[in-house]
Amino acid sequence: MLGKAQGLPADQIFCDLEDSVAPLAKEPARGNVVAALNEGNWTGKTRVVRVNDLTTKWTYRDVITVVEGAGENLDCVMLPKVQTGAQVQWLDLLLTQIEEVMGLEVGRIGIEAQIENALGLSNVKEIAFASPRIETIIFGPADFMASVNMPSLVVGALSPHYPGDQFHYVLFKILEAARARGVQAIDGPYLHIRDVDGFGEVARKSAALGYDGKWVLHPGQIEAANEIYAPRQEDYDHAELILDAYAWHTSAEGGLRGAVMLGDEMIDEASRKMAEVIAGKGRAAGLRRAAKFEPPTS
Ligand code: GLV
Ligand code: MG
Repeated sequence: MLGKAQGLPADQIFCDLEDSVAPLAKEPARGNVVAALNEGNWTGKTRVVRVNDLTTKWTYRDVITVVEGAGENLDCVMLPKVQTGAQVQWLDLLLTQIEEVMGLEVGRIGIEAQIENALGLSNVKEIAFASPRIETIIFGPADFMASVNMPSLVVGALSPHYPGDQFHYVLFKILEAARARGVQAIDGPYLHIRDVDGFGEVARKSAALGYDGKWVLHPGQIEAANEIYAPRQEDYDHAELILDAYAWHTSAEGGLRGAVMLGDEMIDEASRKMAEVIAGKGRAAGLRRAAKFEPPTS
């Protein structure tokens, strides 16, 4: 299964020691994860291990075994069910000690924090700012729904009884904290792995807010995720045109103008910032420009 994952077009892989591993299998799983990191060819992918959360007895040995065994081949540790900034600081300090002992570059291994319960959501800003190692804040919808007693078994699906999107607040609060800290915001899993339409419906909501991506649990979800979190070709082209046009018009050659017309649309510095977001997402997704800016001739 891990061998197959190496060839899939996903940006990140994570090896799990947490909820997908049965309690009696937790200890042997650590060795499997170390072997997968050291022996697999993960070129081009961010390599992450999800350890057990800090209310369990397993967390410290998960971190020590994995980072001592495969620290060179690990990019981030994912901490699930984070509740406070202090929990992130605990992981940061432990990583620093292991890095020092093992002669690894101190601070290279990042932290991905999963927000999956009411206390974690209350403290999400503190969590985002708790360590320079924080690279990503992730929404964990399944645990979160359980934590707040949401009466549904379909992760992320809208309730016919609620006049709106019952996930809007939590998604936006996580996004706000991630952007305030300048790190990635990632949406969590969709458990009905054969229902790609359902996956798409949930993914489009977080993509529309500005989320950077979403977990996939099955190869069948990857194509939809890559398409949904990348801009459409025409939006990407339009964003690149705005950037070029704005750069030209604000230059000496273009007349040092800060607000100009591009077709029927007025563009200014705020338009440039919005275009930068779309263009950045398009470039990251490997889109190529299909249109070119031509400065006006007269
Ligand atoms: C993921 O871990 C989730 O609980 O949704
Ligand atoms: Mg979870």
